[in-house]
Amino acid sequence: MNLKGRYLLEPMDFTMEEMDYIFKLADKIIQSPERFMHACDGKLLATLFYEPSTRTRFSFEAAMLRLGGQVIGFSEPNSSSVAKGESIADTIRTVACYCDIAVMRHPKEGAPKVAAYATDMPIINAGDGGHQHPTQTLTDLLTIHREKGSFDNLTIGLCGDLKFGRTVHSLIKALSRYKNIKFVLISPNELRIPDYVRREVIEKNNIPYTEVEKMQDVIPELDMLYMTRVQKERFFNEEDYIRLKDSYILDAEKMQLAKKDMMVLHPLPRVNEIAVEVDSDPRALYFKQAKNGMFVRMALIMCLLGVEKEFMED
Ligand code: CP
Repeated sequence: MNLKGRYLLEPMDFTMEEMDYIFKLADKIIQSPERFMHACDGKLLATLFYEPSTRTRFSFEAAMLRLGGQVIGFSEPNSSSVAKGESIADTIRTVACYCDIAVMRHPKEGAPKVAAYATDMPIINAGDGGHQHPTQTLTDLLTIHREKGSFDNLTIGLCGDLKFGRTVHSLIKALSRYKNIKFVLISPNELRIPDYVRREVIEKNNIPYTEVEKMQDVIPELDMLYMTRVQKERFFNEEDYIRLKDSYILDAEKMQLAKKDMMVLHPLPRVNEIAVEVDSDPRALYFKQAKNGMFVRMALIMCLLGVEKEFMED
């Protein structure tokens, strides 16, 4: 397996075998994190965040620091020459003069791809507009794998803002490769999954799916419920956001309808789509998921820098 120098722009950029390799390394890191304290000594990660983030930026930065590497970057593009009108291509060419690997979040769909065309340095898409969020998908899949031991034979509910939710688009793409998957798409009519995801991913792969508006009707059949926030920042007018923002609230009463081992995932941040009372339910995995995000990003950084081989031997 050789992922050295590769980009991660879309969830399908890696084969299933390459994903398994990353998960295997993440498992090793979880078991003995102290073994990896110097894996990236002398390496430098750039975090270029043109949009707000807590989990993705902090987990990438924590990941690199825990591997012995160092981090530079911005979380506010106006503190850099972006404010003077510098292009993405020129920014990334410059960053590549100083760093070994870069992570980019951008409000424009395709921006990390533009960056990747401008450099040979590995570029990781940390979320581009309403399009894709492949490292969130690695986080989600690692969490499912650690809970269930497999990705096959799952009925997966995706609930909330399926239109703008890039984590949902990436997760559907990635899960479409596994056996006997069924999707239950739960959203208001205005926030249904985009046609291109339905046609080019779900229908093209002959995956059974249903689209419903009411969560209560379908929750008993789910093996996993992936909740999402209504994406305020992607709405064109506030009125629509206010009307739709409380479409779904998962609470203890609804959890009583669910299977005893149904996994509840959420990429976070949550607004109020999961009541705080659900946090103590053992099926609520979203903070465990956030922690897995750091471990899987440690594994990803190591693989893209090509420093993982010696750790895979035992
Ligand atoms: N899940 C996720 O992308 O969270 P942040 O926006 O906080 O990075």
